[in-house]
Formats: sequence, structure tokens, C-alpha cells
Amino acid sequence: MTVYFVDGRFTERDGLNISIDDRGYYFGDGVYEVIKVYDGELYTAEEHINRLFQSAAKIKMSIPYAEVQLMEIARELVATNNILIGHVYIQVTRGSAPRLHQFPNPAVSPVVTAYAINNPRPIAGMEKGVAVKSVEDVRWLRCDIKSLNILGNVLAKQEAQEAGCIEALLHRDGIVTEGSASNMFGVKDGTVYTHPVTNLILNGITRQVILGLCSEQGIPLIEKSFTLEEAFEMDEFFLTSTTSEVTPVISIDGRSLGTGVPGSVTKKIQKAFNLQIPSFIAGE
Ligand code: PDD
Repeated sequence: MTVYFVDGRFTERDGLNISIDDRGYYFGDGVYEVIKVYDGELYTAEEHINRLFQSAAKIKMSIPYAEVQLMEIARELVATNNILIGHVYIQVTRGSAPRLHQFPNPAVSPVVTAYAINNPRPIAGMEKGVAVKSVEDVRWLRCDIKSLNILGNVLAKQEAQEAGCIEALLHRDGIVTEGSASNMFGVKDGTVYTHPVTNLILNGITRQVILGLCSEQGIPLIEKSFTLEEAFEMDEFFLTSTTSEVTPVISIDGRSLGTGVPGSVTKKIQKAFNLQIPSFIAGE
């Protein structure tokens, strides 16, 4: 039986008590995080929980727990539900109140919901590479906030999936920003390029890990945006996220990139990433 954390207590599914007036339903008024679990251990949890607090602050919401308490809740969910490889999902909404756009006055307590599930690593895509579809980035201008309000991402992902692709490659005014649920990287002449940290992308935790690994491995990486046209000309391409880790991209809109198979720089970065996680899971 899966155990969830809802509004201050651990409970089974039947015991879930979520209000129809939760602002998460009405407005997507909240923030969330997805934290990877390897071998029953949370990976980069502090960074994720820290970003949850940053996202909350950016929408002027306070979280009724300390960072260490949320960490404990996440750990307990992993342990109670016997999660070996999977993830923890945490969301915080502004709370429950009759539907009015402005914040409730007096303020109500934000609602924290969390669960942990088993979820295998997407090995096939990581080994063989995946196809992506370019989709115009029509999202709002605060993509730096990991908000629950991600209809633009949902529609882009759906469009990509309907085209037989795993992910959408978002571009705004001709510039590649990120994926619908991932960050995007191109490799040209041995140098890795990715969109700089601005309001137009989510600064992925995996992205930050990759920046560190490239620096350690002596792989040149420049945080500089590139156009969709330039993306087609990259020697290699890959995407990163908590659940996709480092996944090679081998085609955009049906056009093969480079040699059409995962490239050597991408593989080197994957190898370095695998050293971060338990070796029997990474298969090294
Ligand atoms: N998505 N950009 C967007 C828009 C994302 O939604 C995500 C993560 C990322 C990568 O961030 P990170 O490396 O911290 O996971 C970039 C998560 C996994 C999701 O929505 O399920």
C-alpha cells in the first residue's frame, strides 16, 4: 500500500483528503520538485529542496516547513514505500480558499503533498538516443520558477509525442531555450553549448551537475544560446533532467544530427554522470 504525505500527515490513498478549493486546482498556484532516488537514497536532494524554496519565494509563498523537515519527509516516503530506483514528488500549493484570483486574505496555510514511486531509468533512450521535435516556446516569461502551472510544457510535450518524439525542443524567437521537461545541450567542435540561466529556462539541477562534470573532465562548456538552425548543425546533442539523466538526442524533426548515433562527448559526460550514482545501478 502506497503511503503519501498530505497536509501534515502520512496516509494511504484512501485517507487522502484534498480540498476542491485548493488553489493548485484552480490556478496551478504552487510549486513542485522531482527528486531522483538511487538505491533508496535521494540524489541532490538539498539542491532540489533549496530550489523549491526559491520557487516558492518567487511566487511570494512561504513553505510551512524547514528544509530539513522536507528532507525527512522525503526520506521517510522512500523508506516506507521501499523505493529503490524512482523518485519523490513534492508539491506545495498556496492553500485552500474560495476561488478568487488574488491571494487569500487572511492568508491560509500552504498545502504540502508528496509521494515516492519506483520508476526505472530510461535505459533504452540513454543508450540509443532519442528523437525530439521543435516546438515554439509560447510559455510565460518566468520559466525559472518550477511552478505547477505548466500548460505550455504539457502542450509542447504532447505535440512532440504525437509526432513520435520523446521530447519537445522549445525555441523562442528562433533561439533554443530548453525542453518541455528537460534542459538542452548542443556540442560543436568539442565544445558544449547550453542556454544561459535566465528567466527563459529552468536552471535544472542535472544541468548544474553537468556543468560541474564538464569542468572536472576538461570538456569546454559555454552557457551561450544558439538558434534552432544552429541546433541542426550540431555534431552532437543531448538533454538532461532528473528522470532522463543524460540522454543523447539523435534527431530533430526527423533530421539526423552529426553521425546519427550518440556522440563521444555525450558518452563521456554520461560516463562521468554514472560515476555519481551507485555502480550496480549505472551498470559500470
Ligand atoms: N522536469 N526544464 C524544465 C521545464 C523541467 O520541467 C525540468 C525538470 C528540467 C530539468 O530540471 P532537473 O534537472 O532539475 O530535473 C528543465 C521534471 C523532471 C518534471 O517536471 O518531471
